[in-house]
Amino acid sequence: MPSSIVIGTQWGDEGKGKIIDILASQAEVVVRSQGGNNAGHTVVNNGVTYKLHLIPSGILYPDTLCLIGAGVVLDPKNFIEELEMLKERNISTKNLKIDPRAHVVMPWHIELDGLSEEFRGNSDIGTTKRGIGPTYMDKYERCGIRMYDLIHPEVFKEKAMATGKLKNKIITEVYGGEAFDLDAVISEYTEYGKILAPFVDDVSVLTYQAHKEGKTIMFEGAQATLLDIDFGTYPFVTSSHPVSGGVCVGSGVGPKMIDRIIGVAKAYTTRVGKGPFPTELNDEIGEKIRNIGGEFGTTTGRPRRTGWFDAVILRHSVRVNGLDGIALNKLDTLSGLGDLKVCVAYKKADGTVINHFPAALEELDGCEPVYETVKGFDEDISGCRTFDELPQACKDYIKRVEELCECPVAMIGVGPDRAQIIIRD
Ligand code: IMP
Repeated sequence: MPSSIVIGTQWGDEGKGKIIDILASQAEVVVRSQGGNNAGHTVVNNGVTYKLHLIPSGILYPDTLCLIGAGVVLDPKNFIEELEMLKERNISTKNLKIDPRAHVVMPWHIELDGLSEEFRGNSDIGTTKRGIGPTYMDKYERCGIRMYDLIHPEVFKEKAMATGKLKNKIITEVYGGEAFDLDAVISEYTEYGKILAPFVDDVSVLTYQAHKEGKTIMFEGAQATLLDIDFGTYPFVTSSHPVSGGVCVGSGVGPKMIDRIIGVAKAYTTRVGKGPFPTELNDEIGEKIRNIGGEFGTTTGRPRRTGWFDAVILRHSVRVNGLDGIALNKLDTLSGLGDLKVCVAYKKADGTVINHFPAALEELDGCEPVYETVKGFDEDISGCRTFDELPQACKDYIKRVEELCECPVAMIGVGPDRAQIIIRD
């Protein structure tokens, strides 16, 4: 059985949770490989809504092995809250494992995320303030605290004291903030370590074993391609690699173990946080898309910015991730909007037309979208379950997306429920 990666192709919130959940129901192993509780997956199962930030969505299936890889940054407090929420709903967590190499989000990371955003003022990134960037900074600075450390109290005490002293100096002397009581933090987090210890196991080894046994593995992406630290809209990005290559690094598996890469997109575009957004609609249509599509953040509740479908972004994602297929979500949201626009290229300030997504914000800032108008549709498509049942205008829209992105649309989302999907592949 194949192993699949599910990745976000735009700026996140493409409805990966739904696609991941559909595939998780068939997977024997579900792996998360990057990001932290900046992600938010809403999964509706048997009429119950679950909002998961860290724990893989495979947790809703009692026999599925759920793995949190080395590339994830884990906030123990948030993780324990999710454990408790699952326990209250009688969901077993016995098959949940965390790699000992995963880095721990400490309270000073969260504090520093907020302080540095405040310091940037109007030039802030618009982070989720979950401490994600500062935790990855420490990882690459090689002074981070890993899960292994957290569950070994003596090691943890020594490392947390050393790094905590430096963080207190930065918080108080650079930002004028308040120092942490390090003894209190260490004793609080030592207790978390005791709760987390039974979950720690080598995810690279477990994934490899599962692969050798021929098990179905799904690698669930968090965030999305345009939030990638290298291939996203830097600096308005997250601090990890949410592209398919990042899955291998973050879970400790080789690229040859991956059989299929699915990119999730919305039939339009949204983004939270700051940064350029060429097809953004600051008008009535943008407002309609936000309200009909329920475009408000799962993690922060912030209203999402909305805009037309951007094929330049999708082509970038097809290339960077090596996509085999696109899962196009929320096609139903476009019903009743009148004729639809699709961005097919960008026009630079000097009049040059480009077909690829530019490397620098400065270049992107001066780009105007080149639109093609496509016939809209008014029908309620939420009951359609096959491609043939869709109105002709929807079929044409999908076909045009496929041509422009040079990638097949393998799944089409027509409503929020797990069953509201057309599977073509
Ligand atoms: P950070 O990941 O909290 O550092 O935030 C950096 C940027 O990534 C901000 O613009 C966030 O809004 C965005 N971001 C982080 N995680 C997600 C996500 O899961 N969905 C959408 N945007 C995200």
